[in-house]
Amino acid sequence: MEDQFTHAFFFITLMLLLSDCTARDSMSANKKIKDGETLVSEGQMFELGFFSPGKSKNRYLGIWYKKISKGTVVWVANRETPITDRSGMLKLSTHGNLVIHSGGNPMVWSSGSTTVSVQRDSSVVVQLLDSGNLVVWKRNSTNNVLIWQSFDYPGDTHLAGMKFGKDLVTGLERFLTSWKSPDDPSIGVYRNIMDTNGYPQTLGWQGEVLLARVGPWNGVGFSGFPTEKENQIYSTEFVINEKEIYLKYELKSSVVQRVVLTWDGKTLFLHWIERIQDWVVYSEGIVDSCDRYSLCGPFGVCSIRRHPPCTCMQGFEPRNPEEWKASDWVSGCKRKKPLNCGNGDGFWKISRIKVPDTRRSWYNVTMTLAECEIACKRNCSCTGFGSLDIRNGGSGCLLWFDELMDTREYDGDQDIFIRMDANELEGLLDSLSDFNKMKRVIIVVVFTSLVVPLIFAIAYACRKINSRPHTKGRGDQFVEKNTSLPMKHLDDLQFFSLFEVAKATCNFSVCNKIGEGGFGPVYKGALEDGREIAVKRLSETSQQGLDEFKNEVICIASLQHRNLVKLLGYCIHQKELILIYEYLSNKSLDFFLFDETRSLMLDWSKRFNIIHGTARGILYLHQDSRLQIIHRDLKVGNILLDSDMNPKISDFGLARNFIGHDTTANTKKVVGTCGYISPEYAAHGRFSIKSDVFSFGVIVLEIISGIKNREFFHGDRSDNLLGHAWRLHQEGRSIEIMSATLDDSCVVSEVLRCIHVALLCVQHHAEDRPTMLSVVLMLVSEGVLPHPKQPAFFAGESDNEVRSGSSVDEYTITKLYAR
Ligand SMILES: *[C@@H]1O[C@H](CO)[C@@H](O)[C@H](O)[C@H]1NC(C)=O
Ligand SMILES: *[C@@H]1O[C@H](CO)[C@@H](O)[C@H](O)[C@H]1NC(C)=O
Ligand SMILES: *[C@@H]1O[C@H](CO)[C@@H](O)[C@H](O)[C@H]1NC(C)=O
Repeated sequence: MEDQFTHAFFFITLMLLLSDCTARDSMSANKKIKDGETLVSEGQMFELGFFSPGKSKNRYLGIWYKKISKGTVVWVANRETPITDRSGMLKLSTHGNLVIHSGGNPMVWSSGSTTVSVQRDSSVVVQLLDSGNLVVWKRNSTNNVLIWQSFDYPGDTHLAGMKFGKDLVTGLERFLTSWKSPDDPSIGVYRNIMDTNGYPQTLGWQGEVLLARVGPWNGVGFSGFPTEKENQIYSTEFVINEKEIYLKYELKSSVVQRVVLTWDGKTLFLHWIERIQDWVVYSEGIVDSCDRYSLCGPFGVCSIRRHPPCTCMQGFEPRNPEEWKASDWVSGCKRKKPLNCGNGDGFWKISRIKVPDTRRSWYNVTMTLAECEIACKRNCSCTGFGSLDIRNGGSGCLLWFDELMDTREYDGDQDIFIRMDANELEGLLDSLSDFNKMKRVIIVVVFTSLVVPLIFAIAYACRKINSRPHTKGRGDQFVEKNTSLPMKHLDDLQFFSLFEVAKATCNFSVCNKIGEGGFGPVYKGALEDGREIAVKRLSETSQQGLDEFKNEVICIASLQHRNLVKLLGYCIHQKELILIYEYLSNKSLDFFLFDETRSLMLDWSKRFNIIHGTARGILYLHQDSRLQIIHRDLKVGNILLDSDMNPKISDFGLARNFIGHDTTANTKKVVGTCGYISPEYAAHGRFSIKSDVFSFGVIVLEIISGIKNREFFHGDRSDNLLGHAWRLHQEGRSIEIMSATLDDSCVVSEVLRCIHVALLCVQHHAEDRPTMLSVVLMLVSEGVLPHPKQPAFFAGESDNEVRSGSSVDEYTITKLYAR
């Protein structure tokens, strides 16, 4: 072999040896990579070589992250053919075929790309790119031609830039397959595939069982899958034409993301967080039971807000009522009245849903919704239709045939129209108006009785919301969510008798009182079993208190997150309405932050942990919990601390939940707390998730400076804390805002980053402010941040809490706006 080396080759080898510490990223024909040697991509992002997964002793050729996260494998070549010793070797043939051989086996694995004709003036080379893609090029002096790439043969990982889907010309299909176990990369039972029958959608299989379905692309995102419109982290692209159908994502920032189908069947979206040196799950394929494929059977609709979750579509009834009652919904629903087809069938609109399975669908990109309706009417087996693309009022046509499967309620802007017998449709419309009348009567009758006032108060409120005209949402419009009855929410909670609660709190003794919550006093207590609890008691049955109480139950009962305070149970007894929470020993953040001695207990790492935890809690409210919730009263006083100083957001009395992407709303009543409310909310009563982002920014600046925004004075300037911080930032002196108590413990780069992010959050215009997802990622990543525009300048002097419905509001707000 050595004989073949020419002088030139010898020279190159020498160069490689000399530059050994900056490992090579490519290899030319007839060269080898032995077990123990590696290729490293140019920017040190990925490494290729032989490895043993988990506890296994087998050797595989794979690609893993190099710079970050040692040992996270993203691709494996010889998944099914492990090498049992260290004799493995990777070689590139002169014709561009990658081959692995070992001591006893001349071909353990091959890329199978041998058909290329290589002329005399060209050569082949294999290169590992910073994207994690291993490519084989054919090179001559003018250009590179791609012969083979590992991105075409994904394993369990989808990386940025990788196409997921089908090449209709070559028939190549790129899909994910799970590993068998953490120790065995061979193909397991799970796979995620872009299914191209009907309108394309992604299906998750376990063997022959369809587990889950990500709805089809609707122009904005995937139907039924939470997407952020202005995602600053990555963009998703869906391409469908006569040559190929695929989806692909590209990262917009320095964040490292991978999507993995785990060996036990979970699809996880993971982000690498440098600070904690770990992968964090940022989103998951299956979140709740309604994500399980066709839980409710044909013509059923699943909703996580209902209990039980399955109902039949309008005009349908359970096919098998016995099974249905026993919570077996598989056989689904059938029509109450069969279609007679053609003779004036109508369509019933179902709004805000994840559209049914499209495997038996037909589509046309250019047709309008009106043409779509005609097309559906014309074919007897067409059972429903809808727009293909929901942007700009909807365009394109999607027709469904036969059974409608796997439909769920979902907070998106997507509607479908289901076919119905004309008489049935008329009956439905009539009964709907009767139902509303009847409901009103019942509620008035019952409302006069005093039995469980809460339940009916909420029923009443729900009716009010339902009867309000829905503005179907695009742009700045919003639809208020019609909250289901609270019984369901209370179901999940433990009931406490008044006797138990009174006993736990020494009969609501003054000594046990630890504060005033949004709607009444809060007591500390201890249960029989020794658990410490916090008890919130709605003292007077004021309408405002009742509203807030009800809100708290609805919001928090369904939420579970380590950075939200946990509701353990409730007590309703005659006029007493009581909520029972986990007790947090360290009170609230303001108790420490604004006290000279106690603030010393909050060093920088604790404060950073509080900032980060609070951000994650809010992100959960805004996005991850599916019920999009706007807290509306975020402040340091509402951030409680457990014994390890972990933050937990509390007080959901003012929270509101919304649907749709543009979750903005107008309200006549301005509620919230002075110093934390955003300018658009204070001035116009307009609030959105961005008002919470604003409050978060204020909180961060208060945590860093140890000064209350509304109590801040600076010389003769009328700046508040925000204005002052921004001015310092402009001058490159933002560190000066930091409290002197942090001098010893601070990590300057982290402090500066937090201040910068906070300033982005408090920008005057809501649309300039980042979303909480971006905030969370900006806090922990290292990318360049945009320049913050001028913040809202408040000159808050009033220490009044601005709660709803009093004339104080107007007064306070005018003062707030006197710049
Ligand atoms: C390099 O290869 C390309 C594509 O195979 C070919 O069109 C081109 O003429 C080649 N250039 C030279 C200088 O051979
Ligand atoms: C889609 O609909 C348009 C307008 O009705 C029609 O001209 C076109 O041929 C249709 N395309 C297909 C593929 O059916
Ligand atoms: C109705 O649509 C189905 C599915 O595309 C098709 O097989 C059938 O031929 C159509 N029937 C008529 C009458 O067009």
